[in-house]
Amino acid sequence: MKKRPSGQEKNISYPVRRMLGASIMFTYRHTTKVVFGKGALNRLGEEAAKLGSKALVVTGKHFAKKHGYLDRISEALKASGVEPVLYPEVEPNPSFGTVDRGAEIARKEGVDLYVAFGGGSAMDAAKAIDVVATLGGRAADWVYPKVVSEKVKPIIAIPTTHGTGSEVTKYAVLTDTERGMKTVVVGDGILPDVALLDPEPLRHLPGEQAAATGLDALSHAIESYFSSKATPLSDLFAVEAARIIFGNLPCAVKGSLECREEMLYASMLAGYAINIAGTNVGHGLGYEITVRKGVPHGFANLLILPHAAPYYALAAPDKMEELLDKLCLSGLPGGLKESLEALKRNVGAPMRLRDVGFTEEELESLIERAVLYRRNLANAPLDLSEEDIRNIYLSAF
Ligand SMILES: [Fe+2]
Repeated sequence: MKKRPSGQEKNISYPVRRMLGASIMFTYRHTTKVVFGKGALNRLGEEAAKLGSKALVVTGKHFAKKHGYLDRISEALKASGVEPVLYPEVEPNPSFGTVDRGAEIARKEGVDLYVAFGGGSAMDAAKAIDVVATLGGRAADWVYPKVVSEKVKPIIAIPTTHGTGSEVTKYAVLTDTERGMKTVVVGDGILPDVALLDPEPLRHLPGEQAAATGLDALSHAIESYFSSKATPLSDLFAVEAARIIFGNLPCAVKGSLECREEMLYASMLAGYAINIAGTNVGHGLGYEITVRKGVPHGFANLLILPHAAPYYALAAPDKMEELLDKLCLSGLPGGLKESLEALKRNVGAPMRLRDVGFTEEELESLIERAVLYRRNLANAPLDLSEEDIRNIYLSAF
């Protein structure tokens, strides 16, 4: 591992920049209207009517229908004069095909608004469908390094998990099934216009999904905090998100709606943090774990993250100390690494790569594939060599 080369100051971690005497500088704009609290979902009709007249309602295949939300959403839209067109077809880790099919329906029906109800998959699919239907082409044409800065049609996002923060982010993560990798559609143009964060639907979330999505939110908080793009503002969001998650994830997993409400707030804060600073090692080395073994995204990130902690400590020792202090974890043996492992154990997450079906022989091919996720790894506070990546995977094994 080495420090980022000089002449690339933007890649030097924020605390190092601060030590070098850099002043505070950032640009911040966030255009999503956020309505948070019990009953927020009741605002759907009113908000939708301000934005359009015909809405594509994008959800997963089971949750919305099973718990009566598909009907409730349709009724609320109709009562406000907005015609719903249902697309309850999104699978976990949505594919290009799902996006392209949704866009075809959206174009044919002439929708002028999108309502996404679900976890990250439904919200991300809705954003990408909007891009394809509004701007043309196919999903594959719009993935990074392309950036969607042009505003697409309005999106109302309603999360039913406390993980991705997608309701307030400019990201839509899709799976390229042909190349077998995760890709992203990114840009301010896909920021949702309205986010309705209502804890009530979260009462139906199974414990394992609560654990996996909550750990995704935690990985957003920790990775953005140690990102080379972190700012004082993203740190504020990240630290508060991490503090709430450490305190509330175990009881959220056990089913407490109060704790789930706290988690919903924290996952939104972590979404703000990654909007500014992005993710890095946990996501960059975790995506392939999901692609290969179908491990839920949050669990995959947390298989890696504890083993990235020593690198973070090396890159930003002062910042690490500050974080542990604010999380009331300082003085605990093992620091952040062991605190993350203890939380994983507490919520029933898989502990090691071998627990999710990897053999030691497979690690080499994981290392080879890491190059596909340079976009994430480039945000790490240190330039990780192939040897560093090997060490992280071995340690996680
Ligand atoms: Fe994530």
